[in-house]
Amino acid sequence: MTMINVKVAAIEQVTPLVKHFTFVKEDGSSLPAFSGGSHVVVSIDIGGRVHRNPYSLMGSPMENEAYHISVRRQENSRGGSVFMHENVTVGMPLKITYPMNLFSLAKKGRKHILIAGGIGITPFMSQIADLKRMGANYELHYAFRSPEHGAFAAQLKESCGDHLHCYIDSNATRLDLQALLSDQPLGTHVYVCGPSAMVVATLETARNLGWPENHIHSEQFLSPPIGEPFKIQLARSNVEIQVSAEMSMLEAIEAAGVEADFLCRGGVCGRCELDVLETDGALLHNDHFLTDSEKASCKKIMPCVSRAKGERLVLDL
Ligand code: FES
Repeated sequence: MTMINVKVAAIEQVTPLVKHFTFVKEDGSSLPAFSGGSHVVVSIDIGGRVHRNPYSLMGSPMENEAYHISVRRQENSRGGSVFMHENVTVGMPLKITYPMNLFSLAKKGRKHILIAGGIGITPFMSQIADLKRMGANYELHYAFRSPEHGAFAAQLKESCGDHLHCYIDSNATRLDLQALLSDQPLGTHVYVCGPSAMVVATLETARNLGWPENHIHSEQFLSPPIGEPFKIQLARSNVEIQVSAEMSMLEAIEAAGVEADFLCRGGVCGRCELDVLETDGALLHNDHFLTDSEKASCKKIMPCVSRAKGERLVLDL
């Protein structure tokens, strides 16, 4: 995959857990255009091991001098977010992918309801720039733990005015999804990004209320989980690879020098899907892409987030 060489132009601590990083192109030229809701995958080398993590682009898609991402520090992660917080400094060169959009706005929507929880606000920051430019009818509903954890809330208040509605746990203000989604004009689209419980509740509420499936949009990248080490065989490449406890299968494949496709690296897009040629059946599917029956059939696996725990797993790669 072609990568862009960038360097860190600025770092800002936004909340106790969130840092905002600004990237510019290393050679000083403009960055590629993108649309609201896009993400890039940032490559970082931690002790000789390449981590690649997806982050939403937050800046205005009209601005191509710099890209902006925010990273929430996750203590129980495999180290990528902690590394970004502790080791990435201003001036450091990094490699990122070209922007990809798996969470784009339905441009013909008559109204747009955006629902964010915590760090899930980030894809909406660029979408709002698009919605404002389009003069679209929108509402942003933003839930967070306490005032100090409301990343960019003040900035959003300024740019969105009455379109912004905040719900703060510590103030006992809660988003009533049923009420919000019950009374919307025909042609409204809903978008949700945030913790799993919020995404699931929004999807269920919208479906139960009869919203058309293509008017419901969600984004929830999963982090590859830590697990037991296991071995895989790549049939076409004719290699056997050990997947360590902290590595994803996709990372192990890449580290072995085998090219593999990806877009989200978070179990949602389907791009990394591999055919399983042989298995003893112990596949640990962690993705949101395969259906339950596909998972049960053990014929396919998403190596960006899923693992195995059996003795034998042969993949068509
Ligand atoms: S890269 Fe998107 S599901 Fe694996």
